[in-house]
Amino acid sequence: MGVTIEKIPGAALLPYTDMKEMMLSELTRRLGVTLDGRNDYGDLVYLKNYDSDKIPYWCRTAMLEPSLVHFDSIGEAANVLRGMQRSWAPYTFTCFRRAALIQDKLPRVNLKARNFPFEIPRAPIGLYTLIDDKTMIVSAKTSSCLPAGSLLFNEDHENPPSRAYLKIQEALCMANHFFGAELPGPGQKCFEAGACPGGWTWVLVNAGSSVFAVDRSELAPSLMKNPLVTFRAHDAFTYTPKELGEFDWVLSDVICYPERLLEWIHVWLDSGKTKQMICTIKMQGEIDWNLVAEFEKIPFSKIVHLNYNKHELTFIHVEPKIEFSMVK
Ligand SMILES: C[S@@+](CC[C@H](N)C(=O)[O-])C[C@H]1O[C@@H](n2cnc3c(N)ncnc32)[C@H](O)[C@@H]1O
Repeated sequence: MGVTIEKIPGAALLPYTDMKEMMLSELTRRLGVTLDGRNDYGDLVYLKNYDSDKIPYWCRTAMLEPSLVHFDSIGEAANVLRGMQRSWAPYTFTCFRRAALIQDKLPRVNLKARNFPFEIPRAPIGLYTLIDDKTMIVSAKTSSCLPAGSLLFNEDHENPPSRAYLKIQEALCMANHFFGAELPGPGQKCFEAGACPGGWTWVLVNAGSSVFAVDRSELAPSLMKNPLVTFRAHDAFTYTPKELGEFDWVLSDVICYPERLLEWIHVWLDSGKTKQMICTIKMQGEIDWNLVAEFEKIPFSKIVHLNYNKHELTFIHVEPKIEFSMVK
């Protein structure tokens, strides 16, 4: 039969692991997208009528210009992909062996876990999914520069006091990718709200910055002894920017109502005492999308769902640095 490539309308969306129901709910409730004519390929959701200019937060990458490709051999499939673009990653829910053989014939892309810090590449990366042994849905244009849309880290199972450290590592990589933010480093000051047991603090002090860590409970003993850490047992939200002063980063992983967090973010940004914030927005029950939109509205901000987030979104705010130069 040979190879045929058929452009198809709409988009195909790949949710974060175990987040398919969240993504479908967001599609209808936040983006007003109709799920009529939906086809599922494993976790991948193809929507032929997708016409939103937004991508759901719970989607890790989307095929933005999908085509259906019919092929007979692995070589043919790889040739089609290579002809469209250099870099590709698979999302596989069936025909695993065949997909692996196709990937082997493509230019090398590192699909493995990364070490932190990792600079997310800016080059486009396509996504393809075999739907049977002779058909795949493919798109050279996707919504993420990461292979199949997610960043995985090599994990340290011994030193960090909690797995939450992966969340701040991922968020810092995103802050760099979207805003060019530098990682917190020596000489930088961070204020961390809700720091116990200390996963985030561990990342920050390992990078060389000092941390003013506030929680009702103490951090892990090694962090309590660390000279870069100042711990206060206190309600983090009742400290005012005026009394604490300036910070390079203000961060929160406090479990609280999103309304409370939004208010606190405004207090810090209005004070001018910080220009960079990373905060976890903890979702409880049905998501109030109007409230999430209030976070999104804040200039120089982005809301993301992280691979290492649970039922959470992450608010990232990085104001551009103003460089003054004296022209003679
Ligand atoms: C998800 S845990 C933080 C985990 C931490 N980021 C880590 O990396 O290990 C949330 C923390 O917020 C703290 N918390 C809740 N309300 C708080 C408040 N008003 N002020 C300070 N800490 C608070 C809790 O005691 C809890 O330790």
